Amino acid sequence: MTGDLPKNPVFCAIDTPDLAHALKLALDVKDHVGGLKVGLEFFNHQGPDGVRQIVEMGSPVFTDLKFHDIPNTVAGAVRGIARLGPTLLNVHAAGGLAMMRAAKEAAIETAGDKAPLVIGVTLLTSLNETDLERQSIAGSSEDHVRRLAALTQEAGLDGVVCSAREIETLRRDCGNDFRLVVPGIRPAGSSLDDQKRVMTPGEALAAGADVLVIGRPITAADSPSEAARQIAATLGT
Ligand code: C5P
Repeated sequence: MTGDLPKNPVFCAIDTPDLAHALKLALDVKDHVGGLKVGLEFFNHQGPDGVRQIVEMGSPVFTDLKFHDIPNTVAGAVRGIARLGPTLLNVHAAGGLAMMRAAKEAAIETAGDKAPLVIGVTLLTSLNETDLERQSIAGSSEDHVRRLAALTQEAGLDGVVCSAREIETLRRDCGNDFRLVVPGIRPAGSSLDDQKRVMTPGEALAAGADVLVIGRPITAADSPSEAARQIAATLGT
């Protein structure tokens, strides 16, 4: 089922080190979201067994582990994660063409027609142009994201993680089949937390996003299931 994404575009970020808390959140929200995202915090506390338990709850899972190493090592890491059955996984586009190709090949070799979509992380939203300058990367952050998205596409990956403000440009640059996975989404009226450039779920979808990663507006709500249900309702999913 490579290429299939759920109709509801919201993946709820389950950012906790605690397995019982993660399973409870997953159970609470899973009927109102398209999928669940687990990242480095959860993985480094709970490991593959923890991820397997989340996958076994039956929702599509995005393993957001942002691999970045030499091609051989990343291929090995992808083989390890792909056998757990995620729907999406990611690697850093800055790891280069050969690394991204190795990741994609490893995903297909491990999971065949059930292989996860392999997504390239462009520029972490915690970095700004001063950070780029200090790494001797010339030009604007938008130029850098566009170059990395083009490289990701050339490597044959399925899409990129980008910020809301790049959705329209990347949709134009990369065409309709390239998946745009977007964090930093905030329902109207909710707290920004530490996110700086945000869009509402409806705005991000209208701009051309495919997957909306939403964490704290759901997980920190008094009722996570109700918060997720309300977001789904605004999207008509
Ligand atoms: O709670 P919140 O909605 O801000 O969570 C966003 C999720 O997306 C977190 O898991 C965070 O690690 C992830 N993310 C992000 N910005 C990026 C890449 C990933 O916020 N550039």
